[in-house]
Amino acid sequence: MMVAIPEIDGATGPMVFGGRIGAGGCTGCAHRCAGTLSERVMRPCPERIEHLAERVARKARLRRSAVASRKVAIVLYGFPPNAGAVGTAAYLSVFESLQHMLRAMRTEGYAVEVPASVVDLREMVLKGNAAQYGQAANVAARIRADDFVAREPFLKEIEAQWGPAPGRHQTDGSGIFVLGHHFGNVFVGIQPVFGYEGDPMRLLFERGFAPTHAFTAFYRYMAQDFDADVVLHFGMHGALEFMPGKQTGLSANCWPDRLIADMPNVYLYAANNPSESALAKRRIGATIVTYLTPPVAKAGLYKGLVDLKASLNRWRGLPPGAPEAQDLGALIQAQAAELDLCPAEPAWFDQVRATEKLWRDLIEYENSLIPLGLHVVGTPPDAAERAELIAAMAEVEGVEELALKRADKLMSEDHETSGLLRALEGRFIRPVPGGDLLRSPQILPTGRNLHAFDPFRMPTAFALKDGAAQAQRLIERHMASGAETPRSIALVLWGADNIKSDGGPIAQALALMGARPRFDGYGRLCGAELIPLEELGRPRIDVVMTLSGIFRDLLPLQTRMLAEAAWLAAAADEPADLNFVRAHALDYAVKMGCDLETAALRVFSNAEGAYGSNVNQLIDSGAWNDEDELADAFEKRKCFAYGRKGAPVQSAKLMATMLADVDLAYQNLESVELGVTTVDHYFDTLGGIGRAVKRARGVQTPVYIGDQTRGDGKVRTLSEQVALETRTRALNPKWFEGLLKHGGEGVRQIEAQVTNTMGWSATTGQVDPWIYQRLTETFVLDETMRRRLAELNPQASARVANRLIEAHERRYWQPDAATLEALRRGAEELEDTLEGVIPADRVNPVEIAAE
Ligand code: BEZ
Ligand code: MG
Repeated sequence: MMVAIPEIDGATGPMVFGGRIGAGGCTGCAHRCAGTLSERVMRPCPERIEHLAERVARKARLRRSAVASRKVAIVLYGFPPNAGAVGTAAYLSVFESLQHMLRAMRTEGYAVEVPASVVDLREMVLKGNAAQYGQAANVAARIRADDFVAREPFLKEIEAQWGPAPGRHQTDGSGIFVLGHHFGNVFVGIQPVFGYEGDPMRLLFERGFAPTHAFTAFYRYMAQDFDADVVLHFGMHGALEFMPGKQTGLSANCWPDRLIADMPNVYLYAANNPSESALAKRRIGATIVTYLTPPVAKAGLYKGLVDLKASLNRWRGLPPGAPEAQDLGALIQAQAAELDLCPAEPAWFDQVRATEKLWRDLIEYENSLIPLGLHVVGTPPDAAERAELIAAMAEVEGVEELALKRADKLMSEDHETSGLLRALEGRFIRPVPGGDLLRSPQILPTGRNLHAFDPFRMPTAFALKDGAAQAQRLIERHMASGAETPRSIALVLWGADNIKSDGGPIAQALALMGARPRFDGYGRLCGAELIPLEELGRPRIDVVMTLSGIFRDLLPLQTRMLAEAAWLAAAADEPADLNFVRAHALDYAVKMGCDLETAALRVFSNAEGAYGSNVNQLIDSGAWNDEDELADAFEKRKCFAYGRKGAPVQSAKLMATMLADVDLAYQNLESVELGVTTVDHYFDTLGGIGRAVKRARGVQTPVYIGDQTRGDGKVRTLSEQVALETRTRALNPKWFEGLLKHGGEGVRQIEAQVTNTMGWSATTGQVDPWIYQRLTETFVLDETMRRRLAELNPQASARVANRLIEAHERRYWQPDAATLEALRRGAEELEDTLEGVIPADRVNPVEIAAE
């Protein structure tokens, strides 16, 4: 209540500065406050109060500073390393936006040297002396190891993880490099990467993680050496707010707090991600300034799909019994087979049914919404883009015409530049709820401070109704394939989807178990209760819930409610054939030799302070042999059971036991901007559990996606969803040309799409082989395209080719000899381009040494 509610008023950087101390006293800092006998007494925390005062003083200093002397540190990211990803952010064309901002700052009076063009800016940051030092970007400063050692208060913890300074990252053996470039009073820096990327398995066993020397040195450099008046994290998102420590109410022992120190922190963040931005607010005191996601538009048809539609149109216009029907039907089959939409042989027995299905599929592809390109701060969508967006918004129930008019006007204006400039002065930024533009036009204007939600009111009555309908849709889709009523479902829950839908997916979990939330006399969520079986009208379905680390952080009340719902179902005295939760719990209690409370645990997530399953990191690095290693990673990271009360308990065996009963795995898809092949998180979570279930059961179980981006929603199999996204996005010129307009950052998005596709093969085996064939033809075998990609982003384009070869070597597709040979040659050519990268100028970095 004390954290989430003030955020809705636009508060930033709230700090917990008091609390209860047990009899043992507090050892959290050098003050060593003595304990009190009564645990009820609230006590101030001197360390936090000092820190809060420092932060306020820095903010005051910022506000009073003269623009011409104000120093601004702008942070870009580079994850994953060596992927051509340096200077990228979700949905954002980073360098174009940055160039715009530098210009706007110069106009405002900042002493900033603005490069002549975006290309120059990119070269100065990413190239410069990078090759000379073997670094991913220009070296802006070098911090001597002895200086780092003398000044770093938490050196011991860092060295315990990473060895003696200067460590192994961004170093020449005796100093640490700070990457980036100084543009007068503006320093553009590259945030160092986590450090475990090459060795992701290590994260599985890690406790008390600490950032690398390079990561720590980077923030110390900005705070102390560069003496930034304000930091601007540029785009969604970096790693600082995910560093270990408490979820909220951070202390001096938490790394995010240590590193951001007293610096005022502004964070340019996508308007559609209220969940992760909440971590940035709570853990690094960020003032958020939102940016719009790229425009969305209908995918339309291209190449062979256009011809196929023309033939289908002719077919549909034929009178009954027309003599040319037979030949036209055969032509349609041949055209569709060319597009991998059906087999070429045998000839269709029932042409009418086959063509009707094709027609429906084609219309779905044509009307699918896809994001177009990347957003540029300072460049609002043009009239045509706005018109497409407004048309898509008009389809959404509850979005009214007046709101559309308002949305059109607000979208045509730039509120982001002024928002950023205000935030850089330390001024108040008005709060705004987060959401997807299509359904929530109230996120406009952007350029505002994103807040999350009222945690006591989720799930809402609407979400409960919708959640029950979606749950029913899932059951029906599964049974339509001939399966029986599912007895157990593995459901992945994220924070973002729930926040944007007021708890829709949470409501699905409740509906499946036959439960609903309980609210107190003030209407505040306080737990769960069962829906009587007569009212439910079907058995209670067991649900194994895996929460993202972000869900766990943001939704503790809902986490407990879900655990309580599972417990109530397990404890209900009801027949086993009407209550699968109880049937399973009784069974697990016997198998595991545990009590019913333990056997009723169904809510799993990471250990406190940890995020993700690492499946995505394994896929990215290729550092795995057998698919079961992916299941291992998932189970090790996600086996912490969150019960009705108390701390999470590591429960690997219980989880594995439960997974052996799971009939299907499922996750919702909430945003058009985010497909299951757009980001690596979907296969990290849903793919991860899919693989774990497969191992536990010994057979592949179905994996479904509940696409709720439009209308009433639609449940697809994973393989249908990946095929749909491949046709409407990856292979669609409208999609990739929109990205390539933005240069190297666009190539990086294409690379991500290919890697994520392989992530689904690795975790579920449900990606059709033709997808790899067509990706190969489009991006590697087409010489013009290959050279164009190589020119724009040599690292990312080499990764595309190598990933396709990897997919073949892992037996996810079997190209013919000629294709394979051409792919190999293409990959070699791309590698050669990479190695030919020649250093530009040889500027010496600033030397930082202990004086
Ligand atoms: C979440 O909101 O839970 C989430 C966001 C990004 C990646 C994974 C999960
Ligand atoms: Mg993220």
